[in-house]
Amino acid sequence: MNKDFLCLSDWTREELETIFDLCRDLKAKTKAGAPHHLLAGKTLAMIFEKSSTRTRISFEVGMFQLGGHALFLHSGTTQMGRGEPIKDSARVMSGYCDGIMIRTYSQTAIEELAKFASIPVINGLTDMYHPCQIMADLFTVIEHKENYRDLKYCWIGDGNNMANSWINAAGVFGFELRVATPKGYEPDAGVVARAENAGARILYTNDPAEAAQGADVLNTDVWASMGQEAEQKEREKAFTGYQINDQLLALAASNCVVMHCLPAHRGEEITDSVIEGSHAIIFDEAENRLHVQKAIMATLMEGNKCN
Ligand code: CP
Ligand code: NVA
Repeated sequence: MNKDFLCLSDWTREELETIFDLCRDLKAKTKAGAPHHLLAGKTLAMIFEKSSTRTRISFEVGMFQLGGHALFLHSGTTQMGRGEPIKDSARVMSGYCDGIMIRTYSQTAIEELAKFASIPVINGLTDMYHPCQIMADLFTVIEHKENYRDLKYCWIGDGNNMANSWINAAGVFGFELRVATPKGYEPDAGVVARAENAGARILYTNDPAEAAQGADVLNTDVWASMGQEAEQKEREKAFTGYQINDQLLALAASNCVVMHCLPAHRGEEITDSVIEGSHAIIFDEAENRLHVQKAIMATLMEGNKCN
């Protein structure tokens, strides 16, 4: 098998739930200090064209705990950064490594990499999607709540890579999602259409209060993503009111949980009091990046070398 992890919609609910099952097992083994060297002798190339704390550390530590090795490759220090074609790099890396994780800008570039690589490619964030993060988020909800598919999920803020992946997830898992974005900052139209075709139950609104009403899971992200730094000031104006704060929290279910992929801009999309408050499960969410990605890597890379 050479399956990639580029977008949640490429996978079925059953397949993703199998990854959650493996994640539960690997997390328990990690906590117990029990060896689980499912990827002994295997190597993951990690290509970064954008900054990272969680993604870089959790993939690298994850490979180590699975008995393998991870290579940190900042694109600026490779020939890719000097214009070597992706399709050439893909085939070269396939001869050395057993998997590639890449954080980049364009979804087309990651698809090109996956097309020419004969080893699995994992999306560590593009401008379009952040699938590993949403897997960690859902696993965290499952740990904190029963019947995760019956909950009401709410997205407040930018229609960005995180929002797009939540919409993918609503299509695959079938849970109810409300998405509140300012006008002009809606999620990708193609992603919305694909979710609609999958029968997803999603409300799109420009009213954060409507989205938050009775929600079980509140989620947000920065107003300006990586690569949009120059738009920070104009976005601060457009996103006024799109903040998870105590007033918005009061509209949600009394036992709701609050999530944020981090890094957060406290005082912008979320307040300090919510991050530090009793509803936040943000640091469990961050830790679960490690456990979920180990399960994703083991699912994709265990067994014989793919090329
Ligand atoms: N949430 C997330 O992907 O964090 P990093 O940018 O630190 O990797
Ligand atoms: N939307 C953010 C997520 C960071 C993990 C970004 O792309 O910068």
